[in-house]
Amino acid sequence: MTTAPLTAPPATRSDADWWRQAAVYQIYPRSFADGNGDGIGDLRGIISRIPYLAELGVDAVWLSPFYPSALADGGYDVDHYRDVDPTIGTLEEFDEMVTALHGVGIKLIVDVVPNHSSDRHEWFREALSAPKGSPARERYIFRDGRGEHGEEPPADWTSIFSGPAWTRVPDGQWYLHSFATEQPDFNWKHPEVHEDFLRTLRFWSDRGVDGFRIDVAHGLSKDLGEVLPSSAELKAMPKDGTHPLWDRDDVHEIYAEWRELFDQYEPPRIAVAEAWVETPERRAKYASPEGLGQAFNFDLMEADFDAGHFRDIVADNLAQSAVTGSSTTWVFSNHDGVRHATRYGLPPRAGRPVKQGAQWVAAGGPEDGIDRELGLRRARAATMLELALPGSAYLYQGEELGLHEVAEIPDEQRQDPAFWRTTAGDRGFDGLGRDGCRVPLPWTRSGSSFGFGEGGAHLPQPAWFADFSVEAEDGAAGSTLEMYREALRLRGELQGEESLEWDEALSGGDVLAFERPGGWLSVTNFGAQPVALPVGEVLLASGELEAAADGTSQLPGATTVWLRRSEA
Ligand code: BGC
Repeated sequence: MTTAPLTAPPATRSDADWWRQAAVYQIYPRSFADGNGDGIGDLRGIISRIPYLAELGVDAVWLSPFYPSALADGGYDVDHYRDVDPTIGTLEEFDEMVTALHGVGIKLIVDVVPNHSSDRHEWFREALSAPKGSPARERYIFRDGRGEHGEEPPADWTSIFSGPAWTRVPDGQWYLHSFATEQPDFNWKHPEVHEDFLRTLRFWSDRGVDGFRIDVAHGLSKDLGEVLPSSAELKAMPKDGTHPLWDRDDVHEIYAEWRELFDQYEPPRIAVAEAWVETPERRAKYASPEGLGQAFNFDLMEADFDAGHFRDIVADNLAQSAVTGSSTTWVFSNHDGVRHATRYGLPPRAGRPVKQGAQWVAAGGPEDGIDRELGLRRARAATMLELALPGSAYLYQGEELGLHEVAEIPDEQRQDPAFWRTTAGDRGFDGLGRDGCRVPLPWTRSGSSFGFGEGGAHLPQPAWFADFSVEAEDGAAGSTLEMYREALRLRGELQGEESLEWDEALSGGDVLAFERPGGWLSVTNFGAQPVALPVGEVLLASGELEAAADGTSQLPGATTVWLRRSEA
């Protein structure tokens, strides 16, 4: 890896626009760092690692749910929206964390889960103890069952995690849960649901939170008449804004209300939607400045490592964000998908769909044929390409270490409801569920839970974690951690206007090259064979550059290089 000093001045931008090209680091709190030795990551652990985050050079942290929860779905089953789970910390520690993050210039985005609560939420408990038809049930979606005694669910719908989407309560009624049984869906036609979420958004905004990640943003609004469609009918209905369950046009009325609240703060609070919708045009509605302002784009997460495919995705999404005025987002890994270092090492398989959906890929056991070295090489190249793009980059904890998915978790230790609600061969998510990307991080080569904490780890860590630990990579030339640090540092210095120009002379075949303002050139070789290294001052490369027989430099396969072109 080669680096060169830079003299370009850092980009200036107004504070309200901090998010537009931010590098955001996702923390899955229970697996990041454990400060009190109970095997569960916590706020104390995060506070102790803030110097690490500052050195990494990220602009913001996105914190996955830390609210009181029975962990039926890793914290996405929330008992109280305005509190901290006692195993994770206290509100005072939360405030301390916000102050400490802000002290080193890092913003904080928290996860909000408005589609459903947990079945331990006081409203749901109230609904269960209230009689059928009572107002307390109106905050959720209750229905009578079909069949002579109502013994069949109101409809044959399947939950996203597989299994039935309706569960019967003792008095015979059924409630809807789009995810696990423990996650009853709210009824967003109820004014108290609106009021309560506004209160929640204000509560965290007042505590200094800079923004929100909105879970299942496309699911809140539902239009369910008396007669429910069958699952086959639902599937056949277009998702064009009129579907009874997903991506309804009127969901944006909720976000317009939220925007009013966000804009009362200085700088305005930001929001990013997790919205699984059919087209970039539909996604753009979530990114509207009158609504949430930004939306996740998972296209790269679902793409094969292929120059043409990447180019189309980048071009489409930049065009789309130019229309909305938002900035686009890029993601390769998160807490729901197989880590990209593993995904990119999958063996070529006849009949494999072109789209390698992050959630639909089987990351198998040790003899699964995954080429982990190639996977990591490609992942590093993909990340450097990502960090050179305009827009915000969402990074997932551990990807900066080049971590692979952990496949070797015994079934009985798995926690993901997407694993438990399904049987092998019938899994909605990848074959093994999502625990493999949620294993506590390795901070040291050895010791109790590789430095995660003093009291073990809530998911088993494999022996190979030692070589991917922060301790092993810190200061090690060529390590993935050092590559991320340097790439983020350079990105901060080079980041200017949100524009990109394809370099048509260099692009073609397996090569994708583009230039950012100021002569910052990113070139990725997606193929297996080396290509000639373009002219320019080498700033950073994702792998060692090679020398050809004639002594000229070459860009090897599965490698990205950043160059600075001298201004003409
Ligand atoms: C989150 C998942 C969660 C689901 C239900 C999502 O899309 O990212 O982790 O299981 O919502 O809340």
